[in-house]
Amino acid sequence: MTEILKVNAANPQTERIERAAVALRQGKLVAFPTETVYGLGANALDTQAVRRIFAAKGRPGSDPLIVHLADADWLPRVAAEIPPIAYRLAAAFWPGPLTLILPKRDEIPAQISAGRNTVGVRVPAHPVALALLKAAGIPIAAPSANRFGRTSPTRASHVLADLGERIDLILDGGETSIGIESTVLDITAPEPVILRPGGVTAEQLAALLGKVVVAGDVPEHEIPPSPGMLPRHYSPRAELIFLIQPERAAALAALRRLAEDEIGRGRRVGMLLVEEDLPYFAGLPVETASLGAQNDLWQAARLLYAGMHSLDARLVDVTLTRDLGEAGPGLALRDRLRRAATKIVS
Ligand code: TXA
Ligand code: MG
Repeated sequence: MTEILKVNAANPQTERIERAAVALRQGKLVAFPTETVYGLGANALDTQAVRRIFAAKGRPGSDPLIVHLADADWLPRVAAEIPPIAYRLAAAFWPGPLTLILPKRDEIPAQISAGRNTVGVRVPAHPVALALLKAAGIPIAAPSANRFGRTSPTRASHVLADLGERIDLILDGGETSIGIESTVLDITAPEPVILRPGGVTAEQLAALLGKVVVAGDVPEHEIPPSPGMLPRHYSPRAELIFLIQPERAAALAALRRLAEDEIGRGRRVGMLLVEEDLPYFAGLPVETASLGAQNDLWQAARLLYAGMHSLDARLVDVTLTRDLGEAGPGLALRDRLRRAATKIVS
């Protein structure tokens, strides 16, 4: 049986955190909230526990895990070399949604880094995650708490629905505040490279680093065997059509044609759009999920996965959504939607 423990998100109850910390030290799997998404945690120094994460998620061993720390002071426990830039980035963005790729210490199981000589680390900015890390006293490996390829969880109920009986304990700290995953920044190369855009924006990093490179949309090891065979990730159950059209009026007209076409084929359609776009589809028999106000992409990030989960719960066959540009969190939104999409229309 999976146990669900409600915790106060701002001021977590000590005895509940302690129970979760004991479970982690015993090698069990504990899901917990971070400021980005819920993580599926295990003792990062325990190879068996780390193996259980991969088994529970159905995740291929080739996909490395992020190790969570209570404080930048813990870096020497996991990283073999820590360049000065790591401490500058930590001072600016930790606790927070930035994962740094650093040379790995031998004590970190090879499974965590999928056989590479690097390790991804971050200090999460959530009182529950930080309290858990401090109480456990160990680095915690934690991928997003969803089955491999599925939509990441922003609520405990999402974790329960997706991973259910596969995990021992879920700490329920309510909704996560950022809603999309951390930015993954590789600082082992001569020039820092964003491997995954996320909760710390490219603009924020450029302000500190001067220049920052964004890796190609599809990582080299994931290059699809043939066009149209993009690896799906972050995906809802429903099909997802992602429209990339910078001109709003043209985008809405195209979405309407797509929606009418799907409805005509007898399919149940979901619209995942900013508030201002939704009235445009008022006359159509569609399910809707709002991404909040058009001028607030942070709100869109917070509502993205929750919207996908909500439309899935309403059993839509296909969801239509559109690109919101690349400013700030827009780049991360675009990345997740491209990977979640069954079809990209531009
Ligand atoms: O916000 C987050 O990062 C959440 C919360 C729970 O902290 N975690 C998360 O983990 O998103 P996951 O496993 O779903 O995604 C980890 C990402 C993957 O894209 C993985 O390839 C990359 O980080 N990564 C981890 N270690 C790496 C390494 N050593 N080298 C390159 N990429 C790495
Ligand atoms: Mg994930």
